[in-house]
Amino acid sequence: MKIIAGNWKMNGTKENLIKMIHDLSELSTENKIILCVPFTMLDTDSGKISIGAQDVSQHAHGAYTGEVSAKMIADTGAKYVIVGHSECRQYHGDTNDTVRKKSAQALANGLTPIICVGETMDEKQAGKTMEIIESGVRESVPTDASADNIIIAYEPRWAIGAGLTPTREEIATAHTLIAKTLTEMGLDGAPVLYGASVKGSNAADIMSVTNVNGVLVGGASLKSDDFIPIITSVK
Ligand code: PGA
Repeated sequence: MKIIAGNWKMNGTKENLIKMIHDLSELSTENKIILCVPFTMLDTDSGKISIGAQDVSQHAHGAYTGEVSAKMIADTGAKYVIVGHSECRQYHGDTNDTVRKKSAQALANGLTPIICVGETMDEKQAGKTMEIIESGVRESVPTDASADNIIIAYEPRWAIGAGLTPTREEIATAHTLIAKTLTEMGLDGAPVLYGASVKGSNAADIMSVTNVNGVLVGGASLKSDDFIPIITSVK
């Protein structure tokens, strides 16, 4: 069983989501499907598909205009939330410290955080990929996490939305480091997803790499014609 998570980013409407849920409901798959959608769609009736948000406040409640708390997300029935996505790190200034606080809020409200880590092109070129990944995991995961209530997503930031993917060897090296780091943190077995430019034509290959427990899919999760081949590419 693999975890196939979609990240709709700021795309789609409720009507699009209802259609996607309908199309996915006809699939026979053992894989776990999660759709991380804009806040406005979180309360959509989703059947056996799990719903997640794409960000959460680091605060429990209060005077934070425009923010949405973990309690509010949980109140919609959503079960997951992406935290520390590359775009939130880039455009909103999220740091590992912020991501840890947001993830702690998620856990305190019964949500599973999907914690994203990954290197930028500058960091890759400076030979810092492993350092960024390891510090990302160590500093972004809250101390009260357990292996069954967090998901890590390795997303090389230079490859997101770019049609680029690392080699199998690079993915294997990154995922093996994350698995080792999680074991050292007492989180042995927490699932680790790969994300960035996943599509139907590369999903099975990527998910056959050692320590890859699923994928986090952006652009190719928006239409069922693109998303279904990813889901059905592996058992
Ligand atoms: P992409 O996005 O699949 O469009 O590269 C992945 C992500 O941002 O999670």
